[in-house]
Amino acid sequence: MDRDLSLNLARVTEAAALSGAKFLGKGDKNAADGAAVDAMRRMFDTVHINGTVVIGEGEIDEAPMLYIGEEIGTRRKGDEAVDIAVDPIDGTTAISNGMNNAIAVVAVAPEGCLLHAPDVYMKKIACGPAAKGAIELDDTVENNIKRVAEAIGKSPEEMTISVLDRPRHDDLIKEIRRIGARIKKIKDGDIVTAIYTCFEESGIDMIMGIGGAPEGVIAAAALKCLGGDFQGRLVHSDEAQLNRIKNSSAEEGKIYRIDDLAKGDEMIFAATGVSNGDLLKGVRFMKDNKATTQSLVLRLPSRTVRFIDSVHDLKSKPEYAK
Ligand code: FBP
Repeated sequence: MDRDLSLNLARVTEAAALSGAKFLGKGDKNAADGAAVDAMRRMFDTVHINGTVVIGEGEIDEAPMLYIGEEIGTRRKGDEAVDIAVDPIDGTTAISNGMNNAIAVVAVAPEGCLLHAPDVYMKKIACGPAAKGAIELDDTVENNIKRVAEAIGKSPEEMTISVLDRPRHDDLIKEIRRIGARIKKIKDGDIVTAIYTCFEESGIDMIMGIGGAPEGVIAAAALKCLGGDFQGRLVHSDEAQLNRIKNSSAEEGKIYRIDDLAKGDEMIFAATGVSNGDLLKGVRFMKDNKATTQSLVLRLPSRTVRFIDSVHDLKSKPEYAK
C-alpha cells in the first residue's frame, strides 16, 4: 500500500474527531456519532483507494454511511483494493457524557486481510510487544497474568490490567484481585486501552474481558503494527447476536489470533483523540475558530509510530464551523 496513505488516513480520523468532539457532554451520542460518520465518510471521498468497508457502522439497512460492504475512496483505475475497518467514535457514550478516552479510528489493509467480524461481542486478551507469545485466551487468568508479568520483568502484583466496567466482568475482576494485580476499570473504549499495552508509560500491561468484536479487529490491526499481541473469540449475548454470527463467515468457537484478525504484512492504522485520553489529547477548540487534534498513525511495513499534532483553522474548513 502507498505509504502516503498514512497521512490521508490521519485526515480521515481528524475529520471524524473534529466533528464528533462538538458533541462532548451534550448527552446525544447519536448526534455525535452521526456527525463523526458523516465527516469521516466525506474525507474518504478524497483518499486514493478502492476501499470496501468490512468493519463499519452496521449492515446496509442499519446505517446510511460506512455500512459493511460500502465501497469508498476515489476508486480510480489503479487505486489499490483495500479492506477498511472504521469506528468514527469508539466511545460514543463517553462523548455524550463528556468523559475521557474516546477516539476516532480507522485501519486499512489489502483486500481480504481484515476479519469480517459481525457486530457481536468478543472475549479478548492483549499485551504489549515484550510479552508477545505469552497470552493464551483459553488459559486461566492467573497463568496469563503470571506469564506476561514474567515476560516484562514484573511481579503479578505490579501488573495493571484494563477491564471494561461491566457486570459481566465481576468474576474476572475478583480473580484478578485474588492474584494481586491492579485493575484499571474503563467505562468505554477498549481499542485505545489495547493500544496502551504497547506504551509502557500508559501503565497498562494487559487488557482482558469481553468487548465489541469489530473493536477487537481494529485493536488487533493496531497491535500488529506495534508488535503487541491479541487474541479473541466471538461470543454472543442474545439471539440476534447468535444469528449475526451464523450469517457471517466468522466462527464462534475459534480463537482468532492476531494474524487471523489482521493478516499479512501491510497495514495502516490511524486514530485521533476525540476526548482526552492517556495516550492522545482530545480535540481542543480554541479562540479565533481554531482547533487542535492529536493523532497516532502506524504503518506495519516500517513499524513507524507517528504522533501528529495538528492545528486546524476552522474558518478555512466550513464543514466544521458549527
Ligand atoms: P461504542 O462507542 O460503539 O458505543 O463502543 C464503545 C465500547 O466501549 C467499545 O470500546 C467496547 O468494545 C464496547 O463498547 C463494549 O460493549 P458494551 O458497551 O455493550 O459492553
